[in-house]
Amino acid sequence: MRLRDLGKSPTIARCWEFQVWYVYWLEQHGESMAEERRVSIHGQWSSRWIFILAATGSAVGLGNIWKFPYITGENGGGAFVLVYLACIAVIGIPIMMAEVMIGRRGRQSPINTMRTLAKEEGRHPLWQYLGWSGVLAGFLILSYYSVIAGWALAYVFRAASGIFHGASADDVGGIFTELVSSPERLLAWHTLFMVMTMIVVSRGVRGGLEQAVRYLMPLLFILLVVLVGYAMSTGAFLEGVKFLFAPDFSKINAAGILIAMGHAFFTLSLGMGAIMVYGSYIPENVSIAQTSVIIALADTAVALMAGMVIFPIVFANGLQPGSGPGLIFQTLPLAFGQMPAGSFFGVLFFVLLVFAAWSSAISLIEPAVAWLVENHGFTRVAASVWCGLATWLMGLGTIFSFNIWSEIKLFGLTFFDLLDFLTANIMLPAGGLFIAIFAAWIMSKKSSQDELAMTVPITYSLWRFLVRFVTPVAVIVVFLNAVGVIGSD
Ligand code: PHE
Repeated sequence: MRLRDLGKSPTIARCWEFQVWYVYWLEQHGESMAEERRVSIHGQWSSRWIFILAATGSAVGLGNIWKFPYITGENGGGAFVLVYLACIAVIGIPIMMAEVMIGRRGRQSPINTMRTLAKEEGRHPLWQYLGWSGVLAGFLILSYYSVIAGWALAYVFRAASGIFHGASADDVGGIFTELVSSPERLLAWHTLFMVMTMIVVSRGVRGGLEQAVRYLMPLLFILLVVLVGYAMSTGAFLEGVKFLFAPDFSKINAAGILIAMGHAFFTLSLGMGAIMVYGSYIPENVSIAQTSVIIALADTAVALMAGMVIFPIVFANGLQPGSGPGLIFQTLPLAFGQMPAGSFFGVLFFVLLVFAAWSSAISLIEPAVAWLVENHGFTRVAASVWCGLATWLMGLGTIFSFNIWSEIKLFGLTFFDLLDFLTANIMLPAGGLFIAIFAAWIMSKKSSQDELAMTVPITYSLWRFLVRFVTPVAVIVVFLNAVGVIGSD
């Protein structure tokens, strides 16, 4: 065959055809390979609102209603609240945006997301350990979170029994002491809560709770408004509000500032990958900045309302604001015992509190479950059962620290206090610090700009300035300050 006839040969023509087809296929497939990671293997939220609800469900929980009032009470009120609010604004919101952005870009469990993104940016694979430390923090937090959620479960039944009706502050205090001094009871409630959590987690991101959260979160909000109304009738409303909002800086020290900052991370579910893993399930077209601000505002509003309910009750009944983790369980029952239809409101309140804790608990364990599914071929059910068992076991330490181990202390702290301090005040802020460094120093400007896709350039610049300089410096200064105080004590 002559060379110029080659083109006419059917074999060559077929080769040519194949080549055209192959280039076409590569284009399509290559694109879809790049696109592959645009959806997580675990599924996706059905809309922007569902993401907002789920992330708000993660953020709003025991941290707002149980923890915020008691640590505010222990740290003198107004000045503490002001530091906490400042931390939400300059540290919390920018880091939340960074976490959602990293999650959406990686589309996997935080461990694999960090590994993939570090590789993509040409950085060290060691960054995946940021995902690992988050998994550990989530496990440790859930181990005690579940015990406290168990208290709320127990209180649903106590409220229903009418036991709070007309009860005095002493009676209510006695009921609380009776509960926490019984390891068997705490164990039963802790077990029930862990089982509830694992059932939802095993059904996946979009199963079950998505629907529940949709209605129950707004209901919790409304109930808090009703309770603020009750607090206004106690005669000590102004005193309570003053305690919460009038800053007296002589009442706060470096350790208090560390606790306020740690709580900003805890309450917004930041620094451990919960928001990152939820971010990996969001659709492409969601505005990260806008949603982060909405979530932070909703979360803060719930905490402040809880404070406006609790402190008037504290002062009206001559109780101590600094009485510790039992604060809401020793104050709210007084309100339910005195207000009209108190049993109804009491049951409703504790049921909603359980739901709020439930939707937070699932996000604490999701990073670990997602990782087991991705890397070890576990089914979601198996992954949930194993994670749940380990967490349940760890929870025993917290249970005992309220009774048989209450005298065993390290640095003057019980097992529960130590776990709480280590996770909320050290692990979460440190995790947040590294997330900020990763988002603003390790990822290229182009990557973060693409992913955040902000329409107003100045907001992107502001965000980048905050995560690049303000957030890391603030976290480090607060850490060093606290160490200085602890060292000089
Ligand atoms: N933000 C939750 C709360 O306030 C607790 C939480 C912390 C959830 C960290 C997930 C991750 O109750």
